[in-house]
Amino acid sequence: MKIIRKPQHAAEHSVAGNWPPDEAAAPWPILVVDDDPDVLAITRISLKDFRFSGRGVQLHFARSSEEALKIYHSVPEMALALIDVVMETEDAGLRLVEVIRKEIKDHTIRLIIRTGQPGHAPERVIIDNYDIDDYKDKTELTSNKLYTTVRSGLKSYRDLKLLEHNRQGLEMVLRAAPEMYLHSLDQPDQFFLEALVQIIRMCETACFLSTSGGEKHERIGGFIAIYNRDALEVRARWKWHPVEEKAELIWLTQELNKMGIQTGSGMSVLSDGRGILPLTVHGSLMGVVYLENVAHLAQSEKHLLELYAVQCAGAMENLRLHNALAEANHNAMRMLAVAAEFKDTETGDHVKRLARQTVETALELGFSQDEAQEMGRASVMHDIGKIGVPDAILLKPNQLTRDEFEVIKSHPGIGASILAEGANFKMALDVALSHHERWDGTGYPMGLKGEAIPLPARIVAVVDVFDALISVRPYKKAWSVLEALGEIEKLAGTHFDPRVVEAFLRTHRNRREKRGQTG
Ligand SMILES: [Fe+2]
Repeated sequence: MKIIRKPQHAAEHSVAGNWPPDEAAAPWPILVVDDDPDVLAITRISLKDFRFSGRGVQLHFARSSEEALKIYHSVPEMALALIDVVMETEDAGLRLVEVIRKEIKDHTIRLIIRTGQPGHAPERVIIDNYDIDDYKDKTELTSNKLYTTVRSGLKSYRDLKLLEHNRQGLEMVLRAAPEMYLHSLDQPDQFFLEALVQIIRMCETACFLSTSGGEKHERIGGFIAIYNRDALEVRARWKWHPVEEKAELIWLTQELNKMGIQTGSGMSVLSDGRGILPLTVHGSLMGVVYLENVAHLAQSEKHLLELYAVQCAGAMENLRLHNALAEANHNAMRMLAVAAEFKDTETGDHVKRLARQTVETALELGFSQDEAQEMGRASVMHDIGKIGVPDAILLKPNQLTRDEFEVIKSHPGIGASILAEGANFKMALDVALSHHERWDGTGYPMGLKGEAIPLPARIVAVVDVFDALISVRPYKKAWSVLEALGEIEKLAGTHFDPRVVEAFLRTHRNRREKRGQTG
């Protein structure tokens, strides 16, 4: 059987503490300050059966402003104070108002002045000069009038707190938005998790479910899933119990289909208190936020969640567009590279092998996966400049003349000119321009030497020559892999960067060892 209860630490995740508090459990704290014991007794009697918004009152009595301050500091979130003016001094009550408003800066507590000597504290003067919410003459404050005054004071306090709570929630949504967009591009998985954590913090919806009552089985129910026709793929979860995940997904999918949740709808609260918040962009459903227990949420909190869901959906769409654009960019690069490759070989396999080995060598040199992948993508464009070399020279089966070789040597420069047209091809441009440079400075087109040659170009130089050696060309047969590796090793320090050659040879050794292990 499932037992649902609020987590003990829920308050530390909440944006506004426990607001609104559990109505049944929390009476409104009220401070009654008066040096006349009869007034205190009458107040107690008048408010004995008082209830507002389903809650009673908890009265705290003080006979001086000094005692009142002590009590004020000991009670969190005092809602209202009834304050006499003349007590230990002729204006003790008014000084107390000043301390609360100006020194403590509590602008939420409702302050009601209640005086028996209006001559000492004329209403107009007090109202104009002190930040109070009401002024009453004790003689006219009957039991019924006191009831009404306290009620309207508490109503105003409740509304102020609710406004503040909503303002904090809204601030959280707005603050989270830029972070969310940033994460959505760099670390999509982190983005989904952050989004879920924010939602759980925002509404205190986190609740524990226990299938056996044991602490080990406790979990907080909440996840964000991408909705793909009739299937849901979970992208973030908050301590979700893995065993039950599949069953929950099947259940949720069925519920979605039953409810026909499609577009533009707000949060749906199911009869058992679970909530489903659709993530929609331009009218199409992208995913859902599933929350375990939302029955206790106020309407304003549901609106905040819906607002946050709009931000989430926007960030998800941003991520989708970003990935689609990157994919289109890579495809365009690959097509260009293959087009160039068809100029002098039968297939485009060379660039694929080149990219793979460039990535492997870069990883072996200690570059990150992302950096290595970027080099791999840049490598495929290395010979793009061959588009500008006439076929008669490029495909000539015999030895090239000196002039013809000069034409061939123009392809790095042509490639660089082509790639200079694109905004995001800096590394590809470096590779195209410098992959025929040599470590000892005897290469072309600029005769760059050593580390003056961009590293991605030094890697591609090794990988390109190796692949040419093991391939058939109009003027030569294919070398064996061992012969080609031997040749590469021989050229370390003259043609090639020795560190790159070492890394390249290690990738081959690693591959051979792996093959040996797998038999
Ligand atoms: Fe080349």
